[in-house]
Amino acid sequence: MQLSGDLLSQLAKFGHIYLYDEVNSTQIQARKLAKEFLNNEHDGIQAIVIANQQSQGLGRFGRKWYSPENGLYFSLLVNFAHNKTPLTLLTLYTGKIIADVIEELTSIPIYLKWPNDLVYIDNNYSFYKIGGILSETIGKTFLKPKPDKKTMIIGIGLNINQTNFPDDLPEATSLKLISLKTKQKETNFNQAEILYKILNRLSESLFNCTNQSHTDILQEIKRKSSVIGKRVKVSQRFKTLTGTAIDIDEQGRLILRTEIGRIISLDAGEVSSIRQ
Ligand code: BTN
Repeated sequence: MQLSGDLLSQLAKFGHIYLYDEVNSTQIQARKLAKEFLNNEHDGIQAIVIANQQSQGLGRFGRKWYSPENGLYFSLLVNFAHNKTPLTLLTLYTGKIIADVIEELTSIPIYLKWPNDLVYIDNNYSFYKIGGILSETIGKTFLKPKPDKKTMIIGIGLNINQTNFPDDLPEATSLKLISLKTKQKETNFNQAEILYKILNRLSESLFNCTNQSHTDILQEIKRKSSVIGKRVKVSQRFKTLTGTAIDIDEQGRLILRTEIGRIISLDAGEVSSIRQ
């Protein structure tokens, strides 16, 4: 990613910037910084760790996140004061804001796939993953934020200008590949511009979660959600459930009506579509 000096100095208004050409994982680096920023008096984004590529990018469920050049990889260290918004809801809201920014900048419609994926959906209702979010709350370890504070690391990986992916990632795609497929146009998207706009929007909106009611946030999330009303398969660590995703509740949980009509709420899982 080419970040000009000019843009770098503009990014600094959002927080302390740590920029690497290559690093193991921005998430790992952000964890190391957590102690330093944990009890900062001011809320909002504290530090932003950005990498051009990652050698050990972390995904959910202990998976690796494929992180070659031409993508966008960053982790935000964030403090919330008195924030009672559940982690899943904050992750979904972050995803919604990112989807909006990408759509505005590229005209490519991007949706949320509960709980943390950013996807493009083709005419056959197949999901193609263009990004993912890895959220963690600091406090379960020896690092303890003040009781009235919530400190999080939000790791964001976006596939921007990559032109190929390994065979074991059949659902992965990039903005460039989507643009080639749908517009027959080879576009090189500007990672720095996307990063700048995302940070700008997150710093304006994410912290409004404390003021804005959860109901409003939830409505926005639901409008961007690709799964509500659809038949889905949800894979969890020890079981797989199938049914219709009927709602997302105020905790950010997915409400599923199973094939035998039972209504259950799910905290976590990996959703895939079933041919409708
Ligand atoms: C997922 O599994 O979908 C979440 C992927 C999150 C990847 C990002 S890239 C920036 C940050 N650093 C990491 O090592 N992981 C997250």
